Amino acid sequence: MASTEVDLSGIQPGQAIKTTFRSQPLFVRHLTPEEIAKAEAVDVSSLRDPQTLEDRTVDGRKEWLITMGVCTHLGCVPLGAGEGENRGEFGGYFCPCHGSHYDTAARIRKGPAPLNLEVPPYTYTSETAVLVG
Ligand code: FES
Repeated sequence: MASTEVDLSGIQPGQAIKTTFRSQPLFVRHLTPEEIAKAEAVDVSSLRDPQTLEDRTVDGRKEWLITMGVCTHLGCVPLGAGEGENRGEFGGYFCPCHGSHYDTAARIRKGPAPLNLEVPPYTYTSETAVLVG
């Protein structure tokens, strides 16, 4: 299966881009210190799909949140990366199809989606490049 290489060098803190991985949308987000703090302040046991930000990022690089851009409800593409700046009530992503709100770690917080946005397998190939897949 094809891998996707993503160049991180142009993605500023606070910015998220949409690209593709295996013909599906992929979100790459450069979290700000405030967004990281917001994600870490959440009581994980209160979450529908309990995961910490550390569970969803690589050690030492938690400012890079890499997820599929596919809502876990019925597969729409959430807003908040590349198209539309509506990031929903929790500052992450918002799926307009049926109103699922994801937080700054792309964890489901409100709405019908059952799971967090999926984190695909990936590895860093340099300081500014990541290979997804
Ligand atoms: Fe996203 Fe239904 S597909 S909320």
